[in-house]
Amino acid sequence: MKNYIKVDEWNIIEEGFDPHLNKISESIFSLGNGRMGQRANFEETYSGESLLGNYVAGVYYPDKTRVGWWKNGYPEYFAKVLNAANWIGIEVNVNGETLDLHTAQVFDFRRVLNMREGYLQRSFTAKLPSGKQVKVNAKRFCSIVDDEAGAICYCITPLNFSGNLTLTPFIDGDVKNQDANYDEKFWEEVTKEVNHDTAYLTLRTKKTAFEVCTGMQFAVYQNGQPVTLTTEPIQKEKYVANRFTVEVRQNEETVIYKLAANLSSENYPKDKLLPHCQEVIQKITQKGFNQMLQEQAMAWAAKWKESDIVIQGDAAAQQGIRFNIFQLNQTYTGEDARLNIGPKGFTGEKYGGSTYWDTEAYCVPFYLATADPQVTRNLLIYRYKHLQKAIENAEKLGFTNGAALYPMVTMNGEECHNEWEITFEEIHRNAAIAFAIYNYVRYTGDADYLNEYGLEVLMGIARFWAQRVNWSEAKQQYVMLGVTGPNEYENNVNNNWYTSTMALWCLEYTLEAIAQVKSNAPNKYANITKRTNFRDQEETTQWQHILHNMYLPVDEEKGVFLQQDGYLDKENILVKDLKPADRPLNQKWSWDRILRSPFIKQADVLQGMYFLEDRFDLDTIRRNFDFYEPRTVHESSLSPCVHAILAAKLGDEERAYQFYLRTSRLDLDDYNNDTEDGCHTTSMAGTWMSVVEGFGGMRVRNNQLHFNPFLPAKWQSFSFKIGFRGVLLNVKVSKEGVQIVNQSDRDLTVDVYDKSYTIKANTQILAEHEYAAKI
Ligand code: BGC
Repeated sequence: MKNYIKVDEWNIIEEGFDPHLNKISESIFSLGNGRMGQRANFEETYSGESLLGNYVAGVYYPDKTRVGWWKNGYPEYFAKVLNAANWIGIEVNVNGETLDLHTAQVFDFRRVLNMREGYLQRSFTAKLPSGKQVKVNAKRFCSIVDDEAGAICYCITPLNFSGNLTLTPFIDGDVKNQDANYDEKFWEEVTKEVNHDTAYLTLRTKKTAFEVCTGMQFAVYQNGQPVTLTTEPIQKEKYVANRFTVEVRQNEETVIYKLAANLSSENYPKDKLLPHCQEVIQKITQKGFNQMLQEQAMAWAAKWKESDIVIQGDAAAQQGIRFNIFQLNQTYTGEDARLNIGPKGFTGEKYGGSTYWDTEAYCVPFYLATADPQVTRNLLIYRYKHLQKAIENAEKLGFTNGAALYPMVTMNGEECHNEWEITFEEIHRNAAIAFAIYNYVRYTGDADYLNEYGLEVLMGIARFWAQRVNWSEAKQQYVMLGVTGPNEYENNVNNNWYTSTMALWCLEYTLEAIAQVKSNAPNKYANITKRTNFRDQEETTQWQHILHNMYLPVDEEKGVFLQQDGYLDKENILVKDLKPADRPLNQKWSWDRILRSPFIKQADVLQGMYFLEDRFDLDTIRRNFDFYEPRTVHESSLSPCVHAILAAKLGDEERAYQFYLRTSRLDLDDYNNDTEDGCHTTSMAGTWMSVVEGFGGMRVRNNQLHFNPFLPAKWQSFSFKIGFRGVLLNVKVSKEGVQIVNQSDRDLTVDVYDKSYTIKANTQILAEHEYAAKI
């Protein structure tokens, strides 16, 4: 836990330079625009500890898996998002001395991530070993308007001398991934060129042969006037640069603008990459840094209009939630159905930038409510496009008849994780993918999605579950053996309640979807069954049989669902009995001890209660919550949000708030001491859920929005934006009541505390405040 980020409602601020915090700050101050992103590395040389990170969405390397004992079914590779060419670099040389914050004395260091307008600013004064002092003020952003482009404005002022400044803007593709399994470099050079004020470098990934062309253009200004430069081109292996020297006078600022573009062969034919990159560079050069920055601010204003959450009375919470929304919007924009959301977004290498169940279970609700439905649709289509691979994935494991097992970790639809027991057996991800389809249709009302794409995915998933269970003669019921639930601190267990319950839910929902498509679009249904060889009568009868005869572990006496068979045989100790020195378990205990212990990494049974809440009465949810939460160590950042929402549902407002606090500033305060690896981007969506679904009590039932809010005691008010079927609402919860402003030209009926209100277009209501009445 750290506490060095200054609290501010719209900015993330760091004052003073502490090299020990640098890698954490590099994660926190990351920039992205959905197509590319980068850690907050410095433009100038830095020889201290740093994790370089420039990422281009969709470009990855299939690193050879590293295992001791190869088993059949093991994924061939562990995919990695690549640390790509560093386009931000500007080497600064002051009369022969390199500016390097590791060797210089640094004063007045200040780094600001301006979330309202979407840029990063850094200023400092550096005293070089020779005693020369320079002041630097650098601003940069990844444009969300020109999403292949980034821009830097780097201003440098000599404070106690006049002389020469040699600047070398460069593109360096000779970079590595820190997490490379065999310490290999993943890029090879294709082309390079250096011109008077531009340079281009095209690199190709080994094995996958993705090509990325990175271009740069630069210009220098003094006293507001362009400086004519004599530049020296530099070319090295996977490296291009231009070097030039300008005369500088004490207290006079020199400004270098560096504009850059990253184009990937995912979007252009390889032989056209360079000319397209040149075009983009030309286009942004014409716009220039200032116009690009203005456009950036306007585009971010539009994003905030749809997704902001305002908290009054708690600036730290305000900063925390905006940071989460900002990072999510930097990571995924929903324009490209081939892209997805890695658990660390564009902020680090961990988790390889691959897609996990996090997307469907945690991110989908955020994008559904804060962005155009197309954004979530594209997340679903991503999985639709991987259906064939999911079928092949299941075939490799011995399944037949179009059964689909989606990967737990993937880039292109193939499984690519690095861990056998933990990840491999987490087949519950299949259910999250089905649930996201349900969630999307429930939220948007776009039932046609089922005819077009959804049903086929559901059928593949249902077929998988139907084959994954087996009939137990002993029990005279179906069982599901050898699985890992969301709680990764148990491996290879039998009858994980969550997995089995969600499997049944998938069968049920697929049957429902079949009935719908059959009646709404009989021709489409006929095509789907033909394409998939679906034996309607036979297969659905079998599913019904499973539905009626599945074993789910329950302890009648305690009135709780059992996480898995035998869970109650575990030692009866609680998290509160653990010594602080034992935490986090995953760093302090042997894996063997963790597996034997009763401790739960993250919501498991409770994850099921969250997804399927309408199936359980409050007493059942309470009993399970009271049983499982005290055994849960929340060592996944995905855990507290589910608990916050359930606690809110159970009316335990204080606990809901406490769980929320554990995620809201997780990265800003480096709560788990791991932010240096990257931010917990997917869990940020969970924080949003804690506010909107937890405190706001928002649900969609029967095609209608419902709110059941309460106001956390420490806040004066909070408000959130919700887009629902073409209507934009601003919901504000304060001591006075629940005010809902309809910011659209259409009326909408919503429920607040079980009372129905029709909010006319461009008007507002103030709902009776049951919560206010309570206090
Ligand atoms: C969690 C998984 C999650 C993964 C990526 C793990 O620590 O246990 O549920 O999918 O991180 O965020």
